[in-house]
Amino acid sequence: MTKRILLTGGAGYIGSHTYVALVEAGHDVVILDNFCNARRNVAERLERITGRPVRVIEGDTRDAGKLAQVFGAEDFDAVVHFAALKAVGDSVARPLEYFDCNIGGLTTLLQAMDKAGCRKLVFSSSATVYGIPDETPTPETAEFRAMNPYGQTKILGEQMLDWLARSNPDWAFGVLRYFNPAGAHASGLIGEDPNDIPNNLMPFVAKVATGELPKIAVFGDDYDTPDGTGVRDYIHVEDLARGHVLSLEKLFETGRGHCVNLGTGRGYSVLEVIAAYQRASNRALPYEITARRPGDVPVYVARADKAAEVLGFRTEKTLDEMCASSWKWVCNDGIRE
Ligand code: NAD
Ligand code: WQD
Repeated sequence: MTKRILLTGGAGYIGSHTYVALVEAGHDVVILDNFCNARRNVAERLERITGRPVRVIEGDTRDAGKLAQVFGAEDFDAVVHFAALKAVGDSVARPLEYFDCNIGGLTTLLQAMDKAGCRKLVFSSSATVYGIPDETPTPETAEFRAMNPYGQTKILGEQMLDWLARSNPDWAFGVLRYFNPAGAHASGLIGEDPNDIPNNLMPFVAKVATGELPKIAVFGDDYDTPDGTGVRDYIHVEDLARGHVLSLEKLFETGRGHCVNLGTGRGYSVLEVIAAYQRASNRALPYEITARRPGDVPVYVARADKAAEVLGFRTEKTLDEMCASSWKWVCNDGIRE
């Protein structure tokens, strides 16, 4: 049945892909975004992909007045909450901005939802809540370990939701811990588009493939992994988007919350990612081994069985498809702003 969904941060990378998945599943979706990390042409792109008008409200999750207006104007059945700041290094330099946006924004949003009687929310959490985990693949039962202020905001966010759900059984939260999102929409019209030099591997590799950056720095080859480089569980952003649809539908079906990892359960090393991107782009990608990046985790791989059990979620797309879709997206320069 069609549900009316508010998508905070819906103009961003994962949010825009989730918008498409929700609309394709028949839901009625409104985006709320302050555009601090998104391009304004996203709405037009989403219209081209879905063939329907897109409703975008420019606004901030910390703005209680705006939220009162948004929830006053129509009845939402649920919120999918992506809006947050996400740069790890930046969070170490400017923790207050992260607490304000990620925790302040979540609090203000939950207050507005409570007033409006809308008490279902899907929350973007992260594998980063596990810090350096004792167990790999990592299960949802692993303990919280904050490594930086960004990770701390995800832990605090989850804990807030947990206490809120205990306070009133009408609340139901889908907590989704993403591993490493990668790739882009098959259309090549939306994707990840960092403003500055990318911090994350896949967008950095993409910029080396296009020639915007000269070479990849591989942060360490002396980890206890098969080729010595860091291993991550990369998940195609279209698979990830589908996970949100399943999470929402489960909240409506059961009226109860869940907390699951969204990953593939399989890890790839930095060198394997570079090799896959070389295949996808058909370009030689120069790299050099440099020192380890401080705070890096050697291996992050999800235990993926709980999402399969609880949501029926299984990933479908491969690392090669992540690289090919990313390459298609970055080659689409001519139609970008
Ligand atoms: P993104 O920066 O592309 O998207 C976030 C969107 O939220 C942007 O469009 C931004 O303009 C908007 N936004 C930020 N603060 C806002 C505010 N206060 N009010 C309204 N809009 C605001 O990031 P993303 O990669 O799409 O991440 C989405 C969510 O997933 C975030 O919560 C992030 O922490 C989480 N997450 C991301 C990753 C990843 O590697 N990309 C991994 C795990 C979790
Ligand atoms: C992947 C691998 C690097 C860049 C980060 C956040 C995490 C989550 C996802 C939101 C590692 C190596 C990277 C480069 C490299 N975000 N690397 N050269 O660190 O797993 O996770 O994004 O929740 O919180 O910490 O992702 O893409 O930065 O790194 O060698 O230029 O690639 O060392 O092994 P990470 P990443």
